[in-house]
Amino acid sequence: MRKKISVIGLGYVGLCTTVCFAVKGYKVISSDKETTKVELIGRGTSPFYEPGLETLLKEAIQDGNLKVVSRTEGAVLGSDISFIAVGTPILRNGNVDLKFVRSSTKEIGKALRKKDGFHLVVVKSTVTPGSTEKVIKPLLEKYSRKRVGVNFGLAVNPEFLREGSAIHDFLHPNRIVIGEFDEHSGKTLEMLYREFYGDKIPILRTNPATVEMVKYASNAFLAAKISFINELANICERLPQKVDIVEVARAIGMDPRIGQEFLNAGVGWGGSCFPKDTKALVAFSRKIGYRPRILEDVIRVNLEQARRVIDVIKEEMGALNGKKIAILGLSFKPNTEDVRGAASIRVINHLIQEGAQVYAYDPAAIDNAKKVLGTKIKYSSTISECLDKADGCILVTEWEEFKKISPEDFTRLMRKPFLFDGRRIFDPKEFSEKLRFRAVGLSKMRETP
Ligand code: UGA
Repeated sequence: MRKKISVIGLGYVGLCTTVCFAVKGYKVISSDKETTKVELIGRGTSPFYEPGLETLLKEAIQDGNLKVVSRTEGAVLGSDISFIAVGTPILRNGNVDLKFVRSSTKEIGKALRKKDGFHLVVVKSTVTPGSTEKVIKPLLEKYSRKRVGVNFGLAVNPEFLREGSAIHDFLHPNRIVIGEFDEHSGKTLEMLYREFYGDKIPILRTNPATVEMVKYASNAFLAAKISFINELANICERLPQKVDIVEVARAIGMDPRIGQEFLNAGVGWGGSCFPKDTKALVAFSRKIGYRPRILEDVIRVNLEQARRVIDVIKEEMGALNGKKIAILGLSFKPNTEDVRGAASIRVINHLIQEGAQVYAYDPAAIDNAKKVLGTKIKYSSTISECLDKADGCILVTEWEEFKKISPEDFTRLMRKPFLFDGRRIFDPKEFSEKLRFRAVGLSKMRETP
């Protein structure tokens, strides 16, 4: 008999987990406190934009495999395994705010009190090492009046999916990491995943705190990799010879010890995870008596990257006061409407400080950007409208539709065509022949000696 699944918290990770299990034929009952969200999802509408998600959501509902409720108790009692996937925002000081984890854990505990038979609780939310043992386990035991490893199971199992390719990532993970409090919990979860993925995916089983660390270590390493290549890009830009970070990255990435991925230099990383998790790891580390200098600089290099873009465009355009700057891309990366931690916001804030008039276009993120930037900038509904009579343009997010813009489009539409390619999507040779062009990680174009 297949296990019945419940997911507590229908944010990004929660909804993707829910939908992926349901379309694979599992009975899933998920809950969220926000009733409007529950109604929306229940009608087959995703509360956020994620390619492929809504189609699968509708399919799961039609097949009768998915139920969405607003009470945690119903979800727990109707299932064998509950995934906690509530948000773990950080406070101003970088400490993780466990309020959603605490409240949902209490409710799961109370429901477990009413439940007969073994139930497995799995923590998917990102929590710092030791949190499941020190906070979640005691709360579950207190409110259920039962014992972990005796009457119910507990494991930690973080998620590594990316926004924009969440469904693909969930269905094709490169590893599953399980931190178990007792052997039976680990085995139960491993069996669920073996049934789901077959035997090709590596499954690592270890203790909970190690797994909690693995999640932070993964995101911190990836963020460090990007800050590192951005730092090298900044060096390349200052070289008097013709040097391009794209070529440098391709060459170093061929060494399997380095690897090609996450070596794309740009205007900086953002999102709902890297900024939050790197900051939380720094705060956590300091709290236990260690100052993580590399991690602190990973964050600092990222924040300063936006300022460097402004320095380059000032070098080309002079003072920005009163000039019209077109921003292409607001989301923190393509295929998402998310602007949390986005480099676009940092770049735009600098531009405003310099007195520029900012016009921005994004295929999906304008509504979210308005919530952050309000009336400080103008929002365009097409690329042409955004570029119209602009003195300069900064490409911030590498959306597919921007790749189709030709050098002629820029020269025709802009008042003084100057383009800064912040994500390296345009061919430097072609573009620099036809307009004033600079790009992240590219030294000023010169004839090869
Ligand atoms: C990230 C991780 O990649 C996931 O594995 C993890 O599960 C997730 O955080 C999480 O903790 O939930 P995500 O935030 O969706 O996923 O986005 P990424 O694709 O990792 O990109 C993050 C940022 O790095 C973006 O702003 C992107 O533009 C930037 N980036 C990425 C670069 O600047 N260069 C690169 O080469 C790659």
